[in-house]
Formats: sequence, C-alpha cells, structure tokens
Amino acid sequence: MSFIGTVDLHAAGEDFTADPYPVYARLRERGPVHRVRTPETGEMWLVVGYEEARAALADPRLSKNWLSVMPDGAELAGFASHMLDSDPPRHTRLRKLVAREFTPRRVEALRPRVQAITDGLIDAMLPHGAADLVDALAFPLPMTVICELLGVPDLDREAFRGWSNEIVGPTGPDAEAAAVTAMTSYLVELIEDKRCTAPRDDLLSALIRTRDEDDDRLSPEELVGMAFLLLVAGHETTVNLISNGMLALLRHPGQLAALRADPGLLDGAVEEMLRYDGPVETATWRFAGETLEIGGARITAGEPVLIALASGDRDPDRFPEPDTFDIRRRTQGHLAFGHGIHYCLGAPLARLEGRIAVRTLLERCPDLALAAAPTALTWRPGLLIRGVHKLPVTF
Ligand code: HEM
Repeated sequence: MSFIGTVDLHAAGEDFTADPYPVYARLRERGPVHRVRTPETGEMWLVVGYEEARAALADPRLSKNWLSVMPDGAELAGFASHMLDSDPPRHTRLRKLVAREFTPRRVEALRPRVQAITDGLIDAMLPHGAADLVDALAFPLPMTVICELLGVPDLDREAFRGWSNEIVGPTGPDAEAAAVTAMTSYLVELIEDKRCTAPRDDLLSALIRTRDEDDDRLSPEELVGMAFLLLVAGHETTVNLISNGMLALLRHPGQLAALRADPGLLDGAVEEMLRYDGPVETATWRFAGETLEIGGARITAGEPVLIALASGDRDPDRFPEPDTFDIRRRTQGHLAFGHGIHYCLGAPLARLEGRIAVRTLLERCPDLALAAAPTALTWRPGLLIRGVHKLPVTF
C-alpha cells in the first residue's frame, strides 16, 4: 500500500472502523497532514500529527462556518445556527449565553443527581447478572442528565437517538436529510411547547427568556441550533467515554486491578480513557478561510480539513508508547475535548459523569467482566464518533 497521493482510509487498514489506529500511525510516519478520502466524506485534508492538530484547532484561518463555503448546504441552515458551526463574533456571543451553566462549579452542584441516576441504573441492571453496558448505563446516564438540565424530561429518546445517530454518522444522503428534517420539526415543536408552559428553572426555559447584557435575544433558528447541539452532544459523546473507557479497562486487567486497589487513580484513569480511545475521533469540519500551509501541505481557500484527535492523542512525539493504556501516565494536553475557542463546553459535565459511572460500576460490580471477544464488537460508522454499538458484560 502506498500513501502517495490521496489515501483511501477504508482501503488503508484491515478494518478502519474497528481499529483506525494502525492507519493513523502509518500516516503519521509519513507526515502530519494528508489528502484522504472515505466513501461518505469524499476528499479532504486530514491532520494527524499532535502539534499540527493542536495548532489547527486554534487556527482562526480555519473557519467553522461551512455555509460560507458550501452554499448548497443552505437547507441545513437551521442546524448551522449553533456555536460549533460559527466563527467569532457570533461564536463568542452564542457561547457566552450558556457558558455560565457549564462551569466546573455549576456542574459540581449536579453531583448528587448524577450519582442518584447512576445508582438507579445500576440497581436495575444488577439482578440480571449480565447486560449491554451501553443500553444499561452508558447511554441513559448522560441522556437523562442533559434532558433534565435542559428541562425536556419527556424527550422521545428512542426517536431522538435514531435521528442523532444518523446525523453524526450518516448511512446515506437521503437518510441523513430525513433525519435532519424530522429532528428540526421535533425541536421546533418542543420549544413551542416549552414556550407555552409556565417557565421553569431549567436551561431551555432560561434560553427562551434570555437576553444577554446587550439585550440580545436568541433568534428562533439559534434556539433550535442550541437545543440541537446540547442534546446531540449529550447523546453522542459521554456514552462512548463510559463504554470505550470500560472496554479499555476490562481489556487491561493489570490497570483494572490497580484502579480497584487505589481509587485515587480514578481521575487520571478517566483522562487516559479519553486519550487512549476518546469518543470524538475527528473534530468537526473546518474550512480553509484562505490559502494556508499546515505541516508542509498547501491547503487552498475553501478546502475542507478534518483534524484527527484520535491520531494526535496517539502521537509518540507527544505521548511515549502511545498505544499502551496506562492510567498513571501524564495525559495533560490530550485533544479529546478539542482545543481553542471551540474547546468542549461540556467537558466538566462529561468528566463528572465519566468518573461517577466508572467508580460506581467498579464498587458495585466486583466481578465485572467482558462477555464478548473484543474482536466481535461492532463499532459506530463514520469518522466523527468512535464507540461500540453494544458492550456485553457480566457481573
Ligand atoms: C466525553 C464526552 C465529550 C467529548 C469527548 C466531547 C468532545 C468535544 C470536542 C472534541 C469538541 C470540539 C469539536 C471541534 O472543535 O470541532 C466539543 C465541543 C462542544 N461540546 Fe463536547 N464533548 C463531550 C461531552 C459534551 C457534553 C456532555 C456537552 C453538553 C452539555 C458538550 C457540549 C459541547 C459544545 C456545546 C461544544 C461546542 C463548543 C464551541 O463551539 O465553542 N460536550 N466537544
């Protein structure tokens, strides 16, 4: 296999979806930036080196406003009205409106509730002796938390999960367009219902009422965009921190035993789970706002660029022996939550949920074990999200 010219990622590895890391390693050996293609995404630039990835994430010449370079995407415009698809100054304004809800202090106040939800889910799981950890805990925990935070406890979770999965890992253009349409009308209705009921002390009610200091209200599209972003982020990411993280731990009995023996290692273990096999494989699309050079590659204005967080976090120049799962290693600077102005707003919440889920599972399931060969697990398609469909365990 040659890596000269455009690399077909799926042809480059045995099973790129199940294990992309060997492909990323071979790409990094040849350079930090490559021209690649996949059947779903077409051709693009892919940044695989740690330093270049970190710099690119904070590079203002790479725009997040894809409507400026892809006018045919206009029908998706409602969804593009969120902070992760915006550049400053709109990004700054949108992020400021919700940033105070996600500070470490505000999130810490959610601890008792996150613990109670976790306990309830594990109570329901324990009598069975076996479970799919995704369905039993990893999915419902973050989902319940984000729905409660936003104030949409009655969200149709199964329908929402289906649309959300399709949008972040499309199986085809028609299915994606149908999911976008269905999700938009669902959210518009949800917000309308909320507007008509008595205001409560939740985030969505607050956003509906909100006026920031400049007396600047969210437009209807921005409100839908914000609800979309927070619910999808709550749906698609932390689930894989818990499932990929527990999979890594269960595949490394020495590390599992060390963590059981010393719960003080918990925070470091969760950071290593994020570095070693994080939920977000590549950051979301960026576009060259002008012609620029990254890692020796000349990227023409308007071209799409993906930044492989999963590859940067396995770069041996930054993390020695990067393919070793080591809960005691120094993980500072890992890219699992991104970097720069779009650094994950939900990171404190995701960390809280991840730590509580892992600690409670280990405490209450002393014999927790994988109930499937790792090679038999199937992985979510697409480049954005990395996670298993199911994680069968016994306890
Ligand atoms: C382990 C779980 C999570 C991971 C690994 C993760 C990862 C990320 C990453 C990599 C980005 C930046 C993407 C880019 O630059 O293209 C991001 C942005 C974001 N995340 Fe998370 N996320 C997680 C959980 C959450 C949760 C629970 C929430 C919601 C409450 C959330 C809300 C957001 C928002 C709003 C942004 C956009 C920030 C901006 O554009 O300024 N995330 N996340």
